[in-house]
Amino acid sequence: MARRRRITRYNERIGPDLTPGMMTLTVFLAVAVILSVYFAFNAEPQKPADDTYVNTWSASDTNSPETSKPKYETTTVSVDNDEVDTGYLVLVNGEHECTFAEDGKIVLLYGNEDKGESYGLATASIACRSDVLDDLNRMLDAYMAATEDGGSIINSGYRTLEDQTQILNDRIESDGEEEAYKYVALPGRSEHHTGLAFDIAAQQDRTWLPQYCREYGFIQRYRADKEELTGIAYEYWHYRYVGDPHAEIMMTKNLCLEEYISLIWDHPFSDPYEFDTEGGERYIIYYVPCGDGEKTEIQVPAGMEYDISGDNVGGFIVTVDMGKTPETGDVTSEAD
Ligand code: DAL
Ligand code: ZN
Repeated sequence: MARRRRITRYNERIGPDLTPGMMTLTVFLAVAVILSVYFAFNAEPQKPADDTYVNTWSASDTNSPETSKPKYETTTVSVDNDEVDTGYLVLVNGEHECTFAEDGKIVLLYGNEDKGESYGLATASIACRSDVLDDLNRMLDAYMAATEDGGSIINSGYRTLEDQTQILNDRIESDGEEEAYKYVALPGRSEHHTGLAFDIAAQQDRTWLPQYCREYGFIQRYRADKEELTGIAYEYWHYRYVGDPHAEIMMTKNLCLEEYISLIWDHPFSDPYEFDTEGGERYIIYYVPCGDGEKTEIQVPAGMEYDISGDNVGGFIVTVDMGKTPETGDVTSEAD
C-alpha cells in the first residue's frame, strides 16, 4: 500500500504539467536516444586507410588521447625484386644460398689506406665489403683501447666459392667429415660469401666483442645456445655485420639471425616491430614480401630516414629511423 501511494503522488505532481505538445516531444527524444545507442553499438569500426600507418607511440608525445592517434603521411618506393639478395640483412645459411649479388663492393684490406691500425691480417687476400670497413675499424679500435690487446687478427673475410670449397676439403682432411660440417658451411651457403662476415682470431679477451660488437653493427653469429637454429657449432671468432639497430636488437634480446628474420616476417607495415635503442633512437621495422612481377611497392613514412634490405628468402625488411624517443618517460616500447 505504501508503495502505490508514492506512485500516485508522483503522477499527480508531474501529470498536470504535460501538454500534448510536450508529450510528442518527449516521445520523439526517447526514440532518438534509443536509435543513437543502437547505432553506436552496431556501427562498423573505422579502419585506417591502407596507405596510412597509425603511429602507435607518438600519440603520447603530443599528449593526444589514445583514440586520436596521429597518422603518418606515407610515400611509396618501388624496389626491383632482383634486389631480394642484397642488403645487410640477407640470410645465408644451410637453407639459403648466397648469390654473390654484391661482389662489386668487395675490397682487399691489405694495402688499403682505409684499413684501421688496430688489427692484423692473416693473409694478404683478406677482403670485405667496402661499406662495412669503417664500422669494423671502429669496433677493433675500441676493442684495442678497452683491452690493450693490439694483437687481434682477421683470419678470414670475403670468400669465393672456390675458397669455401678449399676450406671445407682441408677441414675434412684434417678433422673428418663430421667435425668439418659442424664448423664449415657448404660452398655457396657461407656468409663469408657476402663480404659481411669476419673471423676475428687471436683475441686475448674473448668477452669484449660479444658485449660491445652491437654498438658497431655486428653480431656474434654462431653462439653455443643457437647451434640448433644456425646449424653451425659455436664460433667465438665469427662476426657478421647487420647494421643498426639490428645488431643491438639481436644481441640484447638474444636472437640469432634466423630468429630475428622470422620475428620481422610477422610484422607487416600495419603492425611494425618497434624498438628504442639505448642511445634514445626509435626505429620501426617491418616486412614486405616480394610482389608479383618485377617490382615490389614498399610504403614508408614520408620524410623519415629508411633502409631497405632483402632477406635473401622472399621479401624486404624495411628499417625506419623515427628519430629521438620522447623524454617524457611515459612511452613504452612495444618491442619484446
Ligand atoms: N665457419 C662458417 C660457418 C662458414 O664456413 O661460413
Ligand atoms: Zn667465419
